Amino acid sequence: MADASIGHIALVGAGPGDADLLTLRAVDRLRAADVVLYDDLASGAALAHVRDDAELISVGKRAGQHAPKQAEVSRLMVAYARLGKRVVRLKSGDPTIFSRADEEISAAREAGIAVELVPGVTTATAAAAFIGTALTKRLVARRLQFITAHEVTGGLPDDLDLAALADPAATTCVFMGKATFPALAEKLLAQGLPADTPAAWVENLGADTRAVTGTIVEIATRLREAPPAGACMIIYGRAISISRV
Ligand SMILES: C[S@@+](CC[C@H](N)C(=O)[O-])C[C@H]1O[C@@H](n2cnc3c(N)ncnc32)[C@H](O)[C@@H]1O
Repeated sequence: MADASIGHIALVGAGPGDADLLTLRAVDRLRAADVVLYDDLASGAALAHVRDDAELISVGKRAGQHAPKQAEVSRLMVAYARLGKRVVRLKSGDPTIFSRADEEISAAREAGIAVELVPGVTTATAAAAFIGTALTKRLVARRLQFITAHEVTGGLPDDLDLAALADPAATTCVFMGKATFPALAEKLLAQGLPADTPAAWVENLGADTRAVTGTIVEIATRLREAPPAGACMIIYGRAISISRV
């Protein structure tokens, strides 16, 4: 049971980075926050709503750069809430998708602190919007799957359900996949996914966004030869029909 005398924690989705893809509820929680713990990918537009007297703490999670360990992030979040502060834990996209929200929710609950989840626009749907495609298609793509192609050591997870990922009736959005997607694509082709399956990657949503489109083979080849520097969402499946690049 949460203790009303201590602070409050909100896990807030910052969306893909565009100022106008932040929800009104997210803006409200950011304005009310005394402390904001934010990831680099979620910085920028959302932070403009934080009060001048609020404390801003980067707990940056950009790949390859030093960042506090997850346990330290959870500890900080709880410690500030125990001081009676209203804490926002700001995360890119939607806070419930590949963001270790489960660990932060558990830490808050174990400490008896109220925790609220504020949804955000995930980068998967923002990427689809950027290239102008639907992610599902009647009679063609009945299933949508979100996967991470990055396991703790940085490689391709070895427990991926390849049959599901090679299902021609599914659309797949690959998070954290720019380094491992070429290896994944090889496995998918071996599993029977057609080589002409449409695919795209969208990088740096929110600022200087760029998309590269083609078949899954072309996208995997380009990712191997010239991977983008920034964050990158990869989407493939027969539903993908690109109308803007
Ligand atoms: C730790 S996951 C966070 C996902 C986030 N919770 C969401 O709902 O989009 C990070 C991955 O999300 C995607 N991503 C996050 N920000 C992005 C951006 N600005 N542009 C493109 N992809 C992005 C990339 O696949 C990146 O590797």
